[in-house]
Amino acid sequence: MINSITITHFAKRALRRIRRELNRLFVSDPSNKAPPTAKERALNFIRVQKPLTKILGPLHGRNPYVVEIDLTYNCNLRCKNCNRSCGQAPSEEQMSLHQIERFLQESFKQAAHWEDIRLLGGEPALHQDLLVIIDKLLEYRKTASRSGTITLLTNGAGQQVQNVLKQVPDGVIISNSGKKEEQAGGYAWYVGDKQEEFFIDFNDAPADHWFNYFVDYVNGCWIPVRHGIGLNPYGYYCCSCAAAMDRVFGFDMGRKTMPQADDLMLEQRRVFCRMCGHFTGRQVLRSAGATVSPLWRKAYERYNKGEVAKLTSYAD
Ligand SMILES: C[S@@+](CC[C@H](N)C(=O)[O-])C[C@H]1O[C@@H](n2cnc3c(N)ncnc32)[C@H](O)[C@@H]1O
Ligand code: SF4
Ligand code: SF4
Repeated sequence: MINSITITHFAKRALRRIRRELNRLFVSDPSNKAPPTAKERALNFIRVQKPLTKILGPLHGRNPYVVEIDLTYNCNLRCKNCNRSCGQAPSEEQMSLHQIERFLQESFKQAAHWEDIRLLGGEPALHQDLLVIIDKLLEYRKTASRSGTITLLTNGAGQQVQNVLKQVPDGVIISNSGKKEEQAGGYAWYVGDKQEEFFIDFNDAPADHWFNYFVDYVNGCWIPVRHGIGLNPYGYYCCSCAAAMDRVFGFDMGRKTMPQADDLMLEQRRVFCRMCGHFTGRQVLRSAGATVSPLWRKAYERYNKGEVAKLTSYAD
């Protein structure tokens, strides 16, 4: 017999299906590195407005099986627009061995089964304990997450970094962006004649533009869809860019315990995506350059005058 519980169940399923189908119209494939077309930008801009977001939910989810760990904010380069602010707000903050151990304990406890643990920064090869950290991660992988990869993202620039890279044991994937010291300060990276990567205007805050007034920032962008959550010395974040922003703005929003796999950490997106040049809705404006919009200009001024309070630590 059909009762009200069955009807509610089918109605909910139908609603989920409609949402999924409608979302297909908007989500551009996060594995596609090509810049979005004008049509995709316009559609996404409409999609991230508050009324549609209320009906359809956040446009972008997150990969629950990937974590990006910013081991250090120290870097030997000063790229314009760095999405960790290594040039704009230089710092030597770094993760301790104790914090890495806590992360591994939490991973065991939650049976996290990481498919990819990504080590980055800053320049991770400048962390004096990098090789010890890698040993701990390899040990963890043996016991907990056999098939998962450990990826080290490096700029590959300079003798010191290259010497460390030579000592990285087998079993770690080295993703070398091949930056050159003489190119730091630019925002497009060339390996030979080929343009490898294009730096977006990370410091152009969507919230600094009037036409984003009705945007809902819970929508995020493709970065957590591909690269999961972020972890830095101050805790867990909705993505690694948000983690790096917090040290500059000083909101102190890092979570001190690992979020559950289905937690999109929307309270953080509401704050950090407003400031982030990667934000999907901002694509209407997408430009190549090194704009530093007012919210960021003020934040860097405060940071570089030492006016931003130190954040509370993870695992203390
Ligand atoms: C923050 S870096 C850290 C690892 C290492 N220092 C490097 O540059 O490869 C991680 C990745 O983010 C990219 N990245 C940094 N700022 C960016 C921006 N404004 N737009 C696009 N990619 C950016 C870097 O090129 C690199 O591939
Ligand atoms: S090398 Fe990487 S971390 Fe360093 S300034 Fe450039 S993008 Fe940022
Ligand atoms: S903070 Fe930036 S990188 Fe992170 S989800 Fe928001 S828009 Fe994307």
